[in-house]
Amino acid sequence: MRQFTRGLAEVGVEVLGVGDGAPDPELKRWLHGYLEVPSLMNEPDTAHRVLQWLGGRSVDNVLANWEPLVILAARLRERLGIPGMSVDTVRGFRDKQIMKERVAAAGLRVPKARRVRSVAEMWAALEYIGYPAIVKPISGAGSADTYKVMSAAEAEQVVPHLRHVEEAIAEEFIQGAEYTYDTASIGGTPAYESVTRYLPNALEMRSNEWISPVMISVRDMSQPHIQAGVQLGRAALKALGMGDGMTHMEWFHTPSGEVVFGEVACRPGGACVVDQMNYTSDIDLFREWARVVTQRRFEASTERKYNVGIIFKRARGRGHITRLVGIRELYERYRPHIVEDTLLRPGQPRRDWKATLLSDGYLVVRHPDWNRAVEMTNFAVNDLYLEAR
Ligand SMILES: Nc1ncnc2c1ncn2[C@@H]1O[C@H](COP(=O)(O)OP(=O)(O)OP(=O)(O)O)[C@@H](O)[C@H]1O
Ligand SMILES: [Mg+2]
Repeated sequence: MRQFTRGLAEVGVEVLGVGDGAPDPELKRWLHGYLEVPSLMNEPDTAHRVLQWLGGRSVDNVLANWEPLVILAARLRERLGIPGMSVDTVRGFRDKQIMKERVAAAGLRVPKARRVRSVAEMWAALEYIGYPAIVKPISGAGSADTYKVMSAAEAEQVVPHLRHVEEAIAEEFIQGAEYTYDTASIGGTPAYESVTRYLPNALEMRSNEWISPVMISVRDMSQPHIQAGVQLGRAALKALGMGDGMTHMEWFHTPSGEVVFGEVACRPGGACVVDQMNYTSDIDLFREWARVVTQRRFEASTERKYNVGIIFKRARGRGHITRLVGIRELYERYRPHIVEDTLLRPGQPRRDWKATLLSDGYLVVRHPDWNRAVEMTNFAVNDLYLEAR
């Protein structure tokens, strides 16, 4: 968010920030004003405070790049008479059932799914969908409360964990490789597109601590299965009425060669996806996003120079980092291709891997050749580990 704010300031925009903590000094440099609210999650209260704070001041746009706030931003735009994506349009990017209905209506393949509001509805939905199935919140993020269930017996175990969720969705489980489709779009037409492979799929990386999650941007998007995903993505954005801004979609490539829609958000991807695209094309999408949403122009290169791999590490053991095994060999082999290293070092406390995909730090490597990029990520996954005690 700091980087996007910088981007706005760099293209000449006056930025008024709203947050539920004090802005850090670096962020403050890019702001013309700042309103601290008790809780951004309290939508009506935040909307009320923002409108009061603005008073008669005119603003040209209200933007949010964080998933839980995209509806609030749309509501404020509507209240202030600012053009842009309406609350209804944004709901198509937030509510996983409405999203699928709109995407399916355009003739695109989506998982069979049903909205559920009670335990009884959950069982009825699972009966309709069959197993394996996925159950998750209707508007979740970060794979929170997302479960794969193989059978009714497993569903019995999982249902109690979803009781606090007001609305959920049950879906057909799609087997296949998971990819993202990310864009910076103007009027729903992508000015920049990118595809990233998840290794393993997002739910598995979020559910197993021993896994070192990997994301590799795909340099060569002309490959047929990647093109199929790109076409699916473009059509989904049209179907949902995307306006100006960044989008983050997830899709599956099944063993039978089919591409299936997963979900899409009208905000940039998290977990370094924007940095990854920047490294892929040697550009600054934080600034380009700002240009897109304020001037409806995109000026950066769309050339894809590298396959960029990000490897997130989780230390073995609890407490503080004591040792990084394999780090010297990694640098000896691949130094010119390592573009970022935020791995924790001895003495630093471990992070909560459930709370942040950034885990105990990550490495970013890049190479024009896909196989070489994969080889480097494999080394960082298998031959590098952090110890903690
Ligand atoms: N129908 C499905 N079939 C197979 N896997 C699924 C399905 N739905 C969800 N998943 C897995 O669970 C992950 C999380 O689900 P989803 O993306 O819908 O939730 P989210 O919490 O919005 O995700 P994010 O982590 O992107 O914020 C997916 O990335 C995918 O790996
Ligand atoms: Mg997701």
